[in-house]
Amino acid sequence: MKKNRIPILAAIVIAGLAATHAAGQIQKGKTRPLQTKVWMKTVNQPHCGALVKMLKAGITEDSGWAEAAAHAQMLTESGHVLMADSRCPDTTWANAAKDLREGSEAMLKAIEAKDSAAASADLQKVLGACKACHAAHRKQ
Ligand code: HEC
Repeated sequence: MKKNRIPILAAIVIAGLAATHAAGQIQKGKTRPLQTKVWMKTVNQPHCGALVKMLKAGITEDSGWAEAAAHAQMLTESGHVLMADSRCPDTTWANAAKDLREGSEAMLKAIEAKDSAAASADLQKVLGACKACHAAHRKQ
């Protein structure tokens, strides 16, 4: 009887540590200092917000398309960063990061083709990715 208790206790402790660790990963990665909320504030929000505004107003100049392409590129990179440094806690997060990458990659192609309608449709996929991850993992 006594012999079995130690592995059971160890399993409980390890499970507890794993749970604490997973919660920590959401707000920050494992080894690098970047906080998720800082990335959101400095990358996701400004680049996504700019695209929403630009596509709503309509892009007419070549310089506008180039700027939109830059914002879309940053969002594709964000989809990779959110998966890096053991930050991802579960499949909801992983799927949202994938949708962010694929949606913004498709949007970038539409922007390069100067196709506003397609870019706006792809933007909806990106916004869906923000929403899905926040519904599961953003506390406030
Ligand atoms: C894979 C998950 C994930 C995706 C995708 C995601 N977010 Fe977030 N976001 C979070 C988490 C987690 C927080 C809360 C971080 C915290 O408070 O520690 C957050 C917080 C935020 C915040 C609040 C930051 C602050 O100052 O507290 C903003 C703004 C934001 N996200 C914008 C976006 C936008 C825009 C997108 C889509 C382009 C997006 N996010 C996509 C996970 C995600």
